[in-house]
Amino acid sequence: MTMVSSATKSATNLAAIAFEDDIKRLTKDFSGREWVFRDIDDWLNKKGNRFFLLTGGPGVGKSAIAARLIQIRHNIITAYHFCRGGDVETVRPGRILRSLAAQLAEKLPDYREALANSIKPELLQVGVKIDIKSVVNSKIVGVYIEKLNPSDPEDELDILIRAPLVELQKRYIERQQEPPQLAVILIDSLDEAVTTTGDKNIVSLLAKLYKSDLPDWVRFILTSLTIHLGNECIFSKGVKANENS
Ligand SMILES: Nc1ncnc2c1ncn2[C@@H]1O[C@H](COP(=O)(O)OP(=O)(O)OP(=O)(O)O)[C@@H](O)[C@H]1O
Ligand SMILES: [Mg+2]
Repeated sequence: MTMVSSATKSATNLAAIAFEDDIKRLTKDFSGREWVFRDIDDWLNKKGNRFFLLTGGPGVGKSAIAARLIQIRHNIITAYHFCRGGDVETVRPGRILRSLAAQLAEKLPDYREALANSIKPELLQVGVKIDIKSVVNSKIVGVYIEKLNPSDPEDELDILIRAPLVELQKRYIERQQEPPQLAVILIDSLDEAVTTTGDKNIVSLLAKLYKSDLPDWVRFILTSLTIHLGNECIFSKGVKANENS
């Protein structure tokens, strides 16, 4: 019998939420919208604006564009998330961050180590612990987090996303390695998250990254219904989807 320590049992594994079926459904018979993809490419080619926001009315095709983008730009979309109305797991900020971090860990070499090394000393003092599990051939199979209070999404944002990405950039510089050209994080339907979660929703958290020290190769593509999201100032480029193109 394998002994599992109580610490490991209480730890949370970082796991991505699967959206493959949604992507398949949304892109079935997809056509047109070349102008959106052109606009997004133009924005990606210019440095500076961290957040790209695509807005539009209900049902005009925002999620389909997001899903299609994941298919056609899979080389640069490093992590993605779809907020689904009526599916509380997909709008809770802590769950979103864990899913995004799990994908970043899959796609960016050394992300797990950067995560484990960048945790703030004061969090270690309150018992937060990152445990990296490896198998015999030394392939890392999971990152477990202990005592990370899910009621504080700001800590989670810092531990899971900001600090590891900043640490990775530091490593690239130290090792004189080229950083990835782009690592895009895509989040669809921010409106669902804003209307169903409280003040600390994913938009207010993203706003914390607006003037942060995140490396400039990390960019965000976001979609939302045209509603007041709060923190509008972070979205420096907006594109509207409509029914006719
Ligand atoms: N370019 C397209 N080509 C073909 N079908 C499309 C296209 N865009 C959207 N659709 C279809 O139209 C329907 C509505 O699209 P979608 O869910 O993307 O809209 P939405 O703007 O995200 O809606 P909501 O505001 O409810 O989130 C979907 O069934 C989708 O597959
Ligand atoms: Mg949608």
